[in-house]
Amino acid sequence: MDTALSYTVSIHYDRRLYRQDLTGSIAHAHMLGRQGIIPEREADEIVQALSEIANEIEAGEFPWREELEDIHMNVERRLIEKIGDTAGKLHTARSRNDQVATDVRLYVKEAADRVLTAIHRLRRALVSQAENNIEVVMPGHTHLQRAQPVLFAHHALAYFEMLGRDAERFRQARSRADVLPLGSGALAGVPYPIDREYVAGELGFASVSANSMDAVSDRDFLLDFHSAAAICMMHLSRFAEEIVLWSSDDLRFIKLDDRYTTGSSMMPQKRNPDFAELGRGRTGRVYGGLIALLTVLKGLPLTYNRDLQEDKEGFFDTFDTLLATLEVFAGMVSTMTLNPDRMLAAAVDSNAVATDLADYLVGKGMPFREAHGVVAKLSSHSSASGVSLQDIPLDTYRSFSDLFDEDVKAISVTSSLESRTSRGGTAPSRVRAALEEAKAVLEREGNNV
Ligand code: ARG
Repeated sequence: MDTALSYTVSIHYDRRLYRQDLTGSIAHAHMLGRQGIIPEREADEIVQALSEIANEIEAGEFPWREELEDIHMNVERRLIEKIGDTAGKLHTARSRNDQVATDVRLYVKEAADRVLTAIHRLRRALVSQAENNIEVVMPGHTHLQRAQPVLFAHHALAYFEMLGRDAERFRQARSRADVLPLGSGALAGVPYPIDREYVAGELGFASVSANSMDAVSDRDFLLDFHSAAAICMMHLSRFAEEIVLWSSDDLRFIKLDDRYTTGSSMMPQKRNPDFAELGRGRTGRVYGGLIALLTVLKGLPLTYNRDLQEDKEGFFDTFDTLLATLEVFAGMVSTMTLNPDRMLAAAVDSNAVATDLADYLVGKGMPFREAHGVVAKLSSHSSASGVSLQDIPLDTYRSFSDLFDEDVKAISVTSSLESRTSRGGTAPSRVRAALEEAKAVLEREGNNV
């Protein structure tokens, strides 16, 4: 093939749309027959041949031809080989412009469903880990500095929330894609008595597009998918970062299953968290997909322009990358094991009860700001003397404020956790309730992801 022709070819990636292309054509042919636009007998003949083509493709027997550019022309040529001139009637009242938009929308709807199932699985894995480790305490961080003790389950459920918002975005992306463009023709509509509602019904679209010019040039639904994917990958990447930290030699909060680590080619002791790292790393290409499509679209006049062919490769790549990452993370999360002793020790070690000491003084009548100052001094004393806040004797406490009493010794990681009963807080009672709520959400979604 010469360079000029090969520059236009898209068959090597748009063949992934073959099922959607054939289903779309079958619905269109049925409609043409029903409406008397072509004889019903011929419509049936076309439909029969299209089903045979589907079988050929699935059996790996379809003669793909690069020189025919794209999936639509490949199918049409094969149809002509099978039924001759009648094949030419399929393209009545249709253009490749409304055809390709229909194919891509059908594909996006399925892709969104598969992503939603994968998000659901990962959320389920997080909930099981949270439930199985409901007692596990760890330090919560701000600025990556140990801040206050939290339950591991609380931390895990934070990701449950993020992924819940991701699911919502994919449901929205799906419903944006759920509009039928077919029947828009090349750009201006068609001069035949077509029945678009019938085709929408056959293909499972919720509605038909309202403006033919918009319908053939709109790829917003793909941008919706891309942006939902970019945000979701960002969440997974943050999680990956924590998994890398947690499994590091310094923290050893978790141990990843062998399936989700790799050895080093040089250092025999290594168990590297490559899967988490690759997930983090692949976030870049998913962001890239969003930016690439935004850039393709930004200068396009109405209506169809060939630039739009550039909508597919990035989308497929984003879909594949996100789906695989979600699946790998679900496996990684459900097989990892925690090291509760290390996690608790880090929470106890870290003067993470400092805020509780300030809250204690507030309980004795001191304004919070002042209490904050007192505990800041105590804290410096603790780091300077190398004695943890919990081990400083009462007399020393009193030298910082005479509001300190015997009962200050009751402050511990446990009391700290138990006191945070505000809605959304880490008190075990709250986290247990949140877990029940999370399970109810999964149950509800399970039947209807
Ligand atoms: N391969 C093309 C695409 O993906 C199909 C539509 C071509 N339409 C046209 N008028 N050249 O956009």
